[in-house]
Amino acid sequence: MIYGVVNTKGGVGKTTIAVHLAAYLSTKGKTLLIDGDPQASSASWAAWRRDSDQKYPFNPTTTCLTGKAIYSEGRDLSSGFMNTVIDAGGRDTSGLRSTLLLCQKAIVPVGASNMDAAALSDLLEVIDIARDYNSDLTIHILLSRIDPRTKDSAEMLAFLKDQNLTVLSSQICERVAFRRAIGEGATVAEIKKDTAAITEITHFFEEITA
Ligand SMILES: Nc1ncnc2c1ncn2[C@@H]1O[C@H](COP(=O)(O)OP(=O)(O)OP(=O)(O)O)[C@@H](O)[C@H]1O
Ligand SMILES: [Mg+2]
Repeated sequence: MIYGVVNTKGGVGKTTIAVHLAAYLSTKGKTLLIDGDPQASSASWAAWRRDSDQKYPFNPTTTCLTGKAIYSEGRDLSSGFMNTVIDAGGRDTSGLRSTLLLCQKAIVPVGASNMDAAALSDLLEVIDIARDYNSDLTIHILLSRIDPRTKDSAEMLAFLKDQNLTVLSSQICERVAFRRAIGEGATVAEIKKDTAAITEITHFFEEITA
């Protein structure tokens, strides 16, 4: 299975979700993590992970590809792996379009603000075009960086429903543990500091791999 984590909006949690998913999938079988963002945040996470003296035993193979190479090279490379996760960079780039042509499941992390809702229309246009060329493509919206003390996520859910979008029932809240884990090249399950974070990301893994 090839998963793409995409949104034209920056800072929505694409890298956080991509590396967590890749680490989880690598406990199940050979997994490739493609860092499609020139900022290379996923690759930095993988480097910190490798530097951790094998504290974290399951490692996705990580490579950096940009632009059209995500489709051409990514397609060839991914054939040698059980699962591939692509962390597509922000903005509407050829890398994002390549990711949407290659992946079977596109995970779209979205925040719960009006800004996030407004930014979604750009992405939906690109997804529409990709669907003409990639009939396997399914879209899975994931509410991300949610403040559990507010009703923002309920309002966003209502908006997404109006757009006829498939929204995952799992939601990822804004939790310090996610930030800490990434900075250590780890996952929230590996740093074992926040059971709520572990529960919600595990729910997401189960839902997206079902
Ligand atoms: N659920 C979360 N809880 C707390 N902090 C988070 C969460 N998700 C992401 N962050 C933090 O928010 C920032 C942006 O997250 P991340 O890098 O995953 O987003 P991104 O969509 O990949 O951003 P970019 O568009 O810059 O690539 C990072 O500092 C990250 O640690
Ligand atoms: Mg990123």
